Amino acid sequence: MKILVLNGPNLNLLGLREPELYGSRTYPDLVEFCRGAASAAGAEAEVRQTNHEGVLVDWIQQARGVFDAIVLNAAAYTHTSVAILDAIKAVRIPVAEVHLTEPKEREPFRRVSYVGMAAEAVFSGRGFDSYADAIRHFAAKGA
Ligand code: DQA
Repeated sequence: MKILVLNGPNLNLLGLREPELYGSRTYPDLVEFCRGAASAAGAEAEVRQTNHEGVLVDWIQQARGVFDAIVLNAAAYTHTSVAILDAIKAVRIPVAEVHLTEPKEREPFRRVSYVGMAAEAVFSGRGFDSYADAIRHFAAKGA
């Protein structure tokens, strides 16, 4: 099974970015972690990051016929992007929403999730393990 792991804005700054919230591990650490979690679950993960909303839309569209599932941390775009919601609905690839933190326990503007309106599952609040939970979710059900 091929899983596409997509990361949105500012996740490239993990380690530097608000470490009290996001921890001290870096984005390259996250990439390695996701690949390891996928391989332990008998799957394969391709991990990407962009700061640009349209690039996320392009990658979701291009995943059709190539990937079996998408693990998506759209970061701030989670709470704003109808374009990403529409892309998920259009491609009909199963998507799991992930977050390092628990957005619902943070500022009120993080309580809305457009991604969550189309995602089949949400894994949040467990740091890197949120990604492992999402990867195992797809591996266990065969996407
Ligand atoms: C985040 C939570 C979002 O609210 C925030 O904008 C992020 C990271 C998380 O992983 O906890 O950039 O998606």
